[in-house]
Amino acid sequence: MKRKILAYNFEFSETLDQLRDRFDVEIFKAINPKTDPHFLQALKQAEGIVGLALPVDKELLDSAPNLKIVSNNSTGFNNLSIDEMTKRGVMGTNTPGVLEDTTADAIFGILLAAARRIPELDQFVKSGNWKHYLTRKEYAIDVHHKTLGIIGMGKIGSLIAKRAHFGFDMNILYHNRTRNHEAEEKYHAVNCSLERVLEESDFVCLMTPLTPETENLIGEREFQLMKKSAIFVNGSRGRTVDEKALIEAIKNKEIHGAALDVYQIEPLKVEHPLLQFPNVVTTPHIGSSTFETELKMAKLAVENLVAGLNGERPRNLINPEVLN
Ligand code: DGY
Repeated sequence: MKRKILAYNFEFSETLDQLRDRFDVEIFKAINPKTDPHFLQALKQAEGIVGLALPVDKELLDSAPNLKIVSNNSTGFNNLSIDEMTKRGVMGTNTPGVLEDTTADAIFGILLAAARRIPELDQFVKSGNWKHYLTRKEYAIDVHHKTLGIIGMGKIGSLIAKRAHFGFDMNILYHNRTRNHEAEEKYHAVNCSLERVLEESDFVCLMTPLTPETENLIGEREFQLMKKSAIFVNGSRGRTVDEKALIEAIKNKEIHGAALDVYQIEPLKVEHPLLQFPNVVTTPHIGSSTFETELKMAKLAVENLVAGLNGERPRNLINPEVLN
């Protein structure tokens, strides 16, 4: 019998075709992994899972006694209960190193879109309201030469700083667990407290991974510390922000606007209160979603999966202690 692999929300499933002579590959898309009977049945035999944002918790692991590896098709791995996986000897992998520039482009893009009101003014043209020269009502705000505050100066944060420094002559403040000497030297980024980033930045860009320490990192107090003219950008994970506090901050004009690529619950429902504000730009978690980058990620995720199933150490192993 062939060993079973499950692909979950895995867009380039053709990258698995090369494996079909050795493995029994089952594809699952847009299912509820907690209740889908076919998925739950397949899980019993599955040795490997590759895919995006599958919640791999105790319950799923209990239903997957043969599982050896979960290959996440993303850099973020907050969907994986790593401790539970390690306890059971299940490897977890991710796809860093291929999506950072693409994600930095997207996040800088939504920052620009919010500042220059691009989606709103696109609608202004398309809905036939462009009947006069622009008045103050349609004016936007500048990005160049302003101060960008980056919370979470990892690889993507650093590439956002690069764009801001070289492309837009921005001043850069950052807050990170550890100092990023490269960003300080190359992009003149200044390391400072979270409070200083919030108080002095024209654009506050959140790029931290979601961990117990960063959950709800930005809430009521933090929005109150921001300038009234600030634009808040979230390119991390939805749960790093208290969404209710964000809605209040926008409603009460405590900040000027927001650009969001991630949400507490995704996909975002059309009735979500955040969607009522013209000064909130919303994109559907597009960070890494270009054809080129998604294909590279899919290939890397498959490479990690195969290495794990072949008893080798996958290139992007998150929990190396599992090998002990
Ligand atoms: C990542 O890789 O973590 C991106 O956010 C896509 O999920």
